[in-house]
Amino acid sequence: MTVTTESSTPAKQSRRPVPAGETTPRASRNNSVPAGGTTPRAPRNDPFAPPRLAERARALARDSGDWLHRVRLDPQGRWYERIHQDVDHEVWVISWLPGQSTGFHDHGGSSGAFAVALGTLQEHHVRSARDVGVGETHAFGPDYVHDVRNTSDAPAISVHVYSPPLSSMRRYDLDPAGELVELAAESAEDW
Ligand SMILES: [Fe+2]
Repeated sequence: MTVTTESSTPAKQSRRPVPAGETTPRASRNNSVPAGGTTPRAPRNDPFAPPRLAERARALARDSGDWLHRVRLDPQGRWYERIHQDVDHEVWVISWLPGQSTGFHDHGGSSGAFAVALGTLQEHHVRSARDVGVGETHAFGPDYVHDVRNTSDAPAISVHVYSPPLSSMRRYDLDPAGELVELAAESAEDW
C-alpha cells in the first residue's frame, strides 16, 4: 500500500453541499440499529488503522496549503470536497456554517478520522455529545454512527480521512425512544 501526498494528487471530485438530514427515495424505515459503533482493532503497523488516520487528519488540518482554496461557506448546506483519493484512503475537507450538520450516519465498512482545522464542531452519539476543537481529532472503526454539527456561532473547517474510501453510508434518525432508525442507504455514486 502506498500513501500519496495531497500535493501530488489533484482533486478527483468536488461536490455540492448536502442539506443536513437528507433522505433518499430508497429509504428503508423501521430498521432499528444499535447506537454507537465498533471499537477499531487493526493489525500493528497498519498504515490505515484509525490512529494513523487520526495522525494524518491532524497533520493535514495543520497545513492549510493543500485545502484552503477548497473552503467554501455556503448557507445552503455544509460544503465538502474530496482533495485526495487512492485505493487505500481518501481525504475530504468540509466547510461548516453555524447550524449545519451531517445528521446521524455511518461510514459503511470504512474506518475514519476527522480533525478540526478552524472553529469547533460537536460530535453527537445517541446519548452523548462532545466538542471537538482546533487540533483535536477523533478516529473510529467500521459501522461507527455519529452526527457532527456546528453548534457554534462561527464557521468551522474539518479534515476527514477514510480508509478504505467510502463506498456506502446509511443515514439514521432517532425514534421517540431515542433509538436509531435507518432512513436511507447511499452509495458512492450518490455523493
Ligand atoms: Fe461521519
